[in-house]
Amino acid sequence: MTKWVRAHTNIALIKYWGKENEEWIIPKNNSLSLTLDAFYTDTQVIFDKTLKEDELILDNVMQNASALNKVQRVLDEVRSQAGIQLKARVESKNHVPTAAGLASSASGLAALAGAASQAAGLSLSDTELSKLARIGSGSASRSIYGGFAEWVKGHDHDSSFAVPVDDADWDIGMLFVIVNDAVKEVSSRDGMRRTVETSPFYQGWLDSLDKDLRDMKAAISERDIEKVGSIAERNALKMHATTLGANPPFTYWTAESMTAMTAVRDLRKQEYTAYFTMDAGPNVKIICRQSQLTDIKDKLRPLFTDDQLIEARPGPGLHLVDQSQ
Ligand code: PMV
Repeated sequence: MTKWVRAHTNIALIKYWGKENEEWIIPKNNSLSLTLDAFYTDTQVIFDKTLKEDELILDNVMQNASALNKVQRVLDEVRSQAGIQLKARVESKNHVPTAAGLASSASGLAALAGAASQAAGLSLSDTELSKLARIGSGSASRSIYGGFAEWVKGHDHDSSFAVPVDDADWDIGMLFVIVNDAVKEVSSRDGMRRTVETSPFYQGWLDSLDKDLRDMKAAISERDIEKVGSIAERNALKMHATTLGANPPFTYWTAESMTAMTAVRDLRKQEYTAYFTMDAGPNVKIICRQSQLTDIKDKLRPLFTDDQLIEARPGPGLHLVDQSQ
C-alpha cells in the first residue's frame, strides 16, 4: 500500500538568495535552517497506467498546469531514475493554519520527493532525497532533515544538497507573526533573479556570508541562542537590503512587518531573548527560547490577534505516516 510521506517546513537563519544555475537550482551561497513542528505537508503519490496526464490535488482541489510545474520537475526525475513512464496522481495536504498565508514550497516539495521516490520503488538515501527535493524548490532540500540543516551549495546536481547540523534538542523556538496584507507578491524565484541581475548590493551580501555561516555554526554548537538570533537577524536584514537596490526596486516588508520588528526590538529592551527573520513575504518569525514562547506571545497580544501568532518548536525530518491527519 502506498504510504503518505510527511515533511515539515523550515525557516532559514542564513538565507538562500540567488541561483548560480536556474535549471538545476544550484544556489549562489550555502544556507542554514531550522525545521519546525508547526507546519507540514502530507503527500501521497500513485503512478497509474490509466492516467493520461499528471494530476496534483492540493487540499482536495485539483490544481492547474502552472501549479504542476515544480511538481513535474520532481516527477520527471523520479521517472527517469526508476525507468518508468507512468503518469502520477499526487495528493497533498498542507497543514498550515488557515489564513497563515505562508509559502509551503519547502515542506511540499520535500514531501513530494519522499512520496514520489517511494511510489516508484526507489529507496533513496537522505542525500539523494535532498537533491530531488532541491530541483522542485531550493529550500525543500533542507526539509529532509529535522533540526538545523545546512544546504551546501555545491556546483552541480550531484554536489548540491543539505546535510544535518544539529538536532536542535535544546531551548529554541519560533513565534510566527502572520501578517496578511494585500501586497502584490514577488515570488522568491523572480525576486532572486531580479536581485542577482540588477542589485549593486548583491555582491556585498555574498561577500559577508562565509563569516555569517561560520559564526552561526559555532553559535549552534555552543547552543548560544543570543548569538544564533543576532546573526540570523542581521543576515535577514542584509538579504532584504539587496531587494531595495534592485531595478525595479522591491521589498517584502509591509507596515505590519515593521510593527512586528519594532516589537521584537522592544522585547529585547525588556530582557527577552528575541530576534526576527523574514523571507519572501511580509510575515515575521521571531527566534526565541521555547520556554519564553508563551510570555512573548502574551506581550504581542495588544498588537496582533491570537490567529496571527503561531508557536513553533524544532520539528522532525521526512517520515512516513499511516494516513494524512
Ligand atoms: O526555495 P524557495 O524558492 O522557496 O526560496 C526560498 C527563499 C527564502 O525563503 C527567502 C530563503 C530561504 O533560504 O529559505
